[in-house]
Amino acid sequence: MQTWLVTGGAGFIGANFVLAARRLGLARVINLDLLTYAGHPENLDGVKADPDHVFVHGDIGDEALVTKLFAVHKPVAVLNFAAESHVDRSILGPQAFIQTNIVGTHTLLAAARSYWQGLEAAAKSAFRFLHVSTDEVYGSLGPQDPAFTEEHQYQPNSPYAASKAAADHLVRAYHHTYGMPVLTTNCSNNYGPYQHPEKLIPLIIQNARAGKSLPIYGDGQQVRDWLYVEDHCTAIRTVLEKGRPGETYNIGGNAEKPNLEIVQTICQLLDARFPDKAPHAKLIQHVTDRPGHDRRYAINASKIKRELGWQPAMTFAQGMASTVQWYLDNDAWSRAVSNPQHQEWLKKNYQQQGRNL
Ligand code: NAD
Ligand code: TYD
Repeated sequence: MQTWLVTGGAGFIGANFVLAARRLGLARVINLDLLTYAGHPENLDGVKADPDHVFVHGDIGDEALVTKLFAVHKPVAVLNFAAESHVDRSILGPQAFIQTNIVGTHTLLAAARSYWQGLEAAAKSAFRFLHVSTDEVYGSLGPQDPAFTEEHQYQPNSPYAASKAAADHLVRAYHHTYGMPVLTTNCSNNYGPYQHPEKLIPLIIQNARAGKSLPIYGDGQQVRDWLYVEDHCTAIRTVLEKGRPGETYNIGGNAEKPNLEIVQTICQLLDARFPDKAPHAKLIQHVTDRPGHDRRYAINASKIKRELGWQPAMTFAQGMASTVQWYLDNDAWSRAVSNPQHQEWLKKNYQQQGRNL
């Protein structure tokens, strides 16, 4: 069986990817994760007893460690999910984003290059470094602007987006300069199981169940293009298998929605399930906006559809219903990740920022 080195596989998208890869028996997975506040070993309970999942607690920026992982496990592919991923945290403390998203990704790239250069010809051409990135590198769209294509200019606005953009440029440069077989994916907002409750959808589900306020930044008319996480994982596997080295692929859900509509949808699903608490929408509270808040993201995913045959399988309505159900069914998970560290974050982002929640 081939081996994949997956980084950040204890986080939201990485864990979904690892669980599916192992369920499908696609590869032996070496899962390197630093277990920051966003990494949860609980996410990997499904592969606890799986001998073909090897968890390594460590940093993508640890050169000696990543060099050793290449030498020992000889992966045919690297899938780089590891990152600091929350825009609000990047606004309050950008340094960690520079360290992991730029310096860490470069350390991993450099170690991958050393390993790749020593391979014999067939293994060398089969090797892939797939870097998982975001649509936020493209900046913000106006209401009538066409959706982002792969040719759209990079115009990152938040420290998070800027750090991801820098990493994308390094990945690109390793292909252009050294010929390394890299692939980059730029995806829109994901939702689904195992997402940390600092992000909009799990935060709203959690607060609504607890009868707490539902914080909407500004007017709530900011638009995101929502993609069910399993569809993102399928897209990544498709790019890994069929993508052309050196290319980038945009991945989106064809589901542009303003934030307020997302929150209202969650409230309606909870109203149907808990009519005694309806209407949950009475908990909605407009709070101080995010500084530099991007107004609209939208992905044109026609390249990946045309060239590789991928498109999302899940509709928004189905995806939201099953996501809300998952969080209701997994209350123990939600309690485990709502630890003191998370409570501290909520205080920092909502009370100390004058959001008075
Ligand atoms: P996440 O914050 O849930 O998980 C990140 C994981 O990376 C955590 O398990 C964390 O412990 C780990 N990690 C952080 N720093 C590390 C380091 N230095 N070394 C090793 N591991 C480290 O993030 P996510 O939402 O799962 O996002 C995964 C990737 O997808 C990121 O690169 C992100 O930029 C990208 N992305 C996310 C979305 C989204 O909507 N969540 C959309 C597009 C792209
Ligand atoms: P988020 O889930 O943080 O993802 P991103 O910033 O990467 O798009 O936020 C999604 C949208 O929801 C974004 O426009 C910010 C908004 N938002 C709120 O209105 N209130 C909140 O409490 C949070 C966390 C986000």
